[in-house]
Amino acid sequence: MFVIFCRIFQFFFNLGARLLPWRKAVPIEGPGSVNRIPELLQERNVKKPMIITDDGLVRAGVAQRVIDVLAKAKYPYLVYTDVEPNPSVNTVNKIQKLYIDQKCDGFIALGGGSAMDAAKGAAARVVRPGKSVNQMGGLLRVLRKIPPFIAIPTTAGTGSETTVAALITDTETRHKYAIMDLCLVPRYAILDSELTTGLPPSITAATGMDALTHAIEAYLGWTYNTRESVQFSLDAVKIIFANLETVYKDGKNIEARQAMLQASYKAGFAFTRACVGNIHAIAHTLGGLYNTPHGIANAVILPKVLEDYGKKVHKKLARLTEAAELVSKNDSKTYAEKARIFIDAVYAMNEKMGIPAGFDCIKNDDIPQMIKWAGKECNPLYPVPVIYNKKRFGAMIEKCMQIK
Ligand SMILES: [Fe+2]
Repeated sequence: MFVIFCRIFQFFFNLGARLLPWRKAVPIEGPGSVNRIPELLQERNVKKPMIITDDGLVRAGVAQRVIDVLAKAKYPYLVYTDVEPNPSVNTVNKIQKLYIDQKCDGFIALGGGSAMDAAKGAAARVVRPGKSVNQMGGLLRVLRKIPPFIAIPTTAGTGSETTVAALITDTETRHKYAIMDLCLVPRYAILDSELTTGLPPSITAATGMDALTHAIEAYLGWTYNTRESVQFSLDAVKIIFANLETVYKDGKNIEARQAMLQASYKAGFAFTRACVGNIHAIAHTLGGLYNTPHGIANAVILPKVLEDYGKKVHKKLARLTEAAELVSKNDSKTYAEKARIFIDAVYAMNEKMGIPAGFDCIKNDDIPQMIKWAGKECNPLYPVPVIYNKKRFGAMIEKCMQIK
């Protein structure tokens, strides 16, 4: 009965979603594209932007690169550098207060997912001061135009530069949840590979696997997809298989870095339109409870869930195997054989990049809570190929505890 309820919900949600005014962040691409910030701000009539970033990017000199561009153009600005991984409600509220007190009128979010999530959350609070962050959790609860917003990803993974989502963690309960609203799609996404060349291999690997998970989960959804989101998923899978290991081994390869930024953007668009699935729903519980890096959580769970889906996804995985150029289009292997090749390639990629096979951080006592959160996030909204009930979520979480 529950499966039928979810499918009916998804069917009607899909009809409604097709009427919504979807848009993408305008991509500003290429090495050095960060220099275009002043021009973009002027275009949107922004007088004093607030830069939201984290301490790591300050130490790495990446934040300075953006500050220099603004200083050279004599732009007044405010910088907030205290965004933590898995940003909390407290951080979002602090940013909102500073933004208003200092009379800022636009956001520049510089970082991986966390800086963009925190800035989006703050932007939502700026236009909805009467609603708490928790009250905006869920779908379409902001419904107001946010201030001009430039997203500058410094990792190639989250896709947050073009998504509707801001992932925030409740300060008290450690529950990580999403605020999802079309108004949270940034106005511009600056995809500048020069900002990503200093990323250490471990972060390159984790974030790249996050992007791969976005593309795959979006592609496997049984509905919500459009022709464009399907194509973007296929493109992203192809680019990631061709470039992720290259940038893991050689972070300075600017062409491969630029390609990965493009893949992340495309996968971001694909999943913001077509949703993610069970993998992300479980991964978010790990991020909230144990601060597990989001990309690592996805990378570990991804091949296990694909295996668990079985026959239901063989045909689609076969298509992804071709897109990734792991087999040729004319190859006579069965769908099941091609799917196996794809799953094995994901396992192999994880292993080559030093990603663990499982988690040793999960506490048995936390499993019921994880099952509850994962189920709540996923069902009935995500159009997953196989709907997980509590038992199946539990079994998958236990599978993820096997470290070999
Ligand atoms: Fe993700």
